[in-house]
Amino acid sequence: MKRTLGICYYPEHWPEDQWAKDAAHMVATGLTWVRIGEFGWSRMEPAPGTFSWDWLDRAIDVLGGAGLKIILGTPTATPPRWMVDKHPDMLAVDAQGRPRKFGSRRHYDFSHLGYRDECRRIARLMGERYGKNPVIAAWQIDNEYDCHDTTLSFSDAARKGFQDWLAQKYQSTDALNRAWGNVFWSMEYDSFDQIDLPNLTVTEPNHPHQLAFRRFSSDQVVAFNKVQADELRKHTDAPLIHNYMGRITTFDHWKVGADLDIASWDSYPIGFLSDRLEGTPAFKQAFLRQGHPDNQAFHHDLYRAVGKGRMWVMEQQPGPVNWAPYNPAPLPGMARLWAWEAFAHGAETVCYFRWRQAPFAQEQMHAGLLRPDNAPAPALVEVRQVADEIEALADVGTAQAQAALVFDYGSAWAWDAQPQGADFEMFRLAFAAYCVMRRAGLNIDILPPDTGDLSDYKLVMAPGVMTLSDPLRNALSNFKGMALIGPRTDTKTDELSIPTPLGPDLPNTDISVSLTESMPPNDAIALEGGGQFVHWFEHLEGTADVFAQTTNGQPAIMGNANLRYLAGWPDDRTFDNILSAICAELGIETHMLTDGLRVRDTATHRFVFNYANTAQEWRGTTIPAAGVHWELL
Ligand code: GAL
Repeated sequence: MKRTLGICYYPEHWPEDQWAKDAAHMVATGLTWVRIGEFGWSRMEPAPGTFSWDWLDRAIDVLGGAGLKIILGTPTATPPRWMVDKHPDMLAVDAQGRPRKFGSRRHYDFSHLGYRDECRRIARLMGERYGKNPVIAAWQIDNEYDCHDTTLSFSDAARKGFQDWLAQKYQSTDALNRAWGNVFWSMEYDSFDQIDLPNLTVTEPNHPHQLAFRRFSSDQVVAFNKVQADELRKHTDAPLIHNYMGRITTFDHWKVGADLDIASWDSYPIGFLSDRLEGTPAFKQAFLRQGHPDNQAFHHDLYRAVGKGRMWVMEQQPGPVNWAPYNPAPLPGMARLWAWEAFAHGAETVCYFRWRQAPFAQEQMHAGLLRPDNAPAPALVEVRQVADEIEALADVGTAQAQAALVFDYGSAWAWDAQPQGADFEMFRLAFAAYCVMRRAGLNIDILPPDTGDLSDYKLVMAPGVMTLSDPLRNALSNFKGMALIGPRTDTKTDELSIPTPLGPDLPNTDISVSLTESMPPNDAIALEGGGQFVHWFEHLEGTADVFAQTTNGQPAIMGNANLRYLAGWPDDRTFDNILSAICAELGIETHMLTDGLRVRDTATHRFVFNYANTAQEWRGTTIPAAGVHWELL
């Protein structure tokens, strides 16, 4: 398949006589796709039931006429002002009970059924009008679910929906009281309408109550998305896409993805490093203008799986953004490197955000491919270069990964409800495990928690998975490779209580967690032979073999030939050593990558990316800072 490039464009932001010039320029830049429409509701329907589609018809004609393929967005992330007048209770409410206001975007509540109907209606109208138009070659539903912390809402609509959801799930309050252990602190209910949302309690709400609310809230996102997907499918055969974000765990992307055709995500590597990822000051300084060398790959691998093999980058950072605490410019070369890295991980398309920098409103300091005065911004020439390189390079395909990581959104909610240590967070732990495999140069797949077949892999990691699903437990019992699981895996019931007998319940091996410790920063559990556990340490019992221990003689890794349980959270160096020993045992080739280099094999090529801000050597080849190198395998 030939990879393609695209751009995010807002015809409604520019005079109409600019559109044809922009379209021609996009084509000349080597772009194939243009995404439009996703924030245009106030111009599509200026007043309730009053439509003005003419501008959008003309924009589609101009862009399509220039030879571009269009991704048409449903505008439901930006309900217009009249919508809030029509449904005053549609605003999401924060955990402090304060309604969020009109005046930016995403001010809707996922559980508000009236707003959901409005979204169904606009999706139907757009589907009817544009669904058969051949230039509309893909659809984007809404924009970035959960952006600006919008999955959870503590509104009346959410409370009512939650009560119904609980009644459906538990059938009786007796069953719910038992499942949640509500006898503790006299928290028992005798009717579902007594059950409030888990906010503003005196001390922490009961963990299963919080977990149930998180499950309910995720289900609202799934349902909200499905309403539009079902509607669009009546009118179009074009693929349906959502643009997910990085490090968002508030809803189950596996479930949303099941209703769509392609998973795309929005990649802002520099904003992310500054705003959303851990790292020492020295690390953040070293990668200031390149982004975390593993964050993009992690999300490519995650969303390739969420998209059942089909993944795009819908928004690629081209220059400084406006929303992080600090917004440096990328090193020259990064707009190209990020695109090639996405392609090497299976992306079909990379769209940059955005065509021209807007001189007005909230994102006026956000770079595009063109400056507000229409002169080229620095990334434009890199995009042209990528377009030429795509033409020159035959399809690189995708290679089977040797290693896999199980990623479970439900566990993220459980550990948010019950972190037990301030630094314990599911994404952070899973990402640490991912980074170890990536530093070793492995190709990695990310798997959903109900995976029932591991036979393609030599190595599988499953850190922090609250409860192993039956299919996964089964797959582990027949696994011929090595599973490295834990810490905190299979140590709770589905209702977030402690099982008896104590977990984990692992096939063919006897291990249980008898006591759990969490540690503050700068404290650690030392391991015999060097290395340490940070943040988290579980005391293990059982008859399984001990493969590593602490300097106090407590088990650090227990298990058997095919399955090892990790008792703690290793720091990066320790994790590297544990993984290299396992790879050596399994006969998996690893690369000792320096801090900036990363590799990814495709079916035909090995790609090497230099994330460092200085040139690096790769087997006799010098790769400049922000450089990409590829060689035939
Ligand atoms: C994304 C969003 C875009 C734009 C961009 C700026 O989160 O989808 O609409 O706001 O960030 O970086």
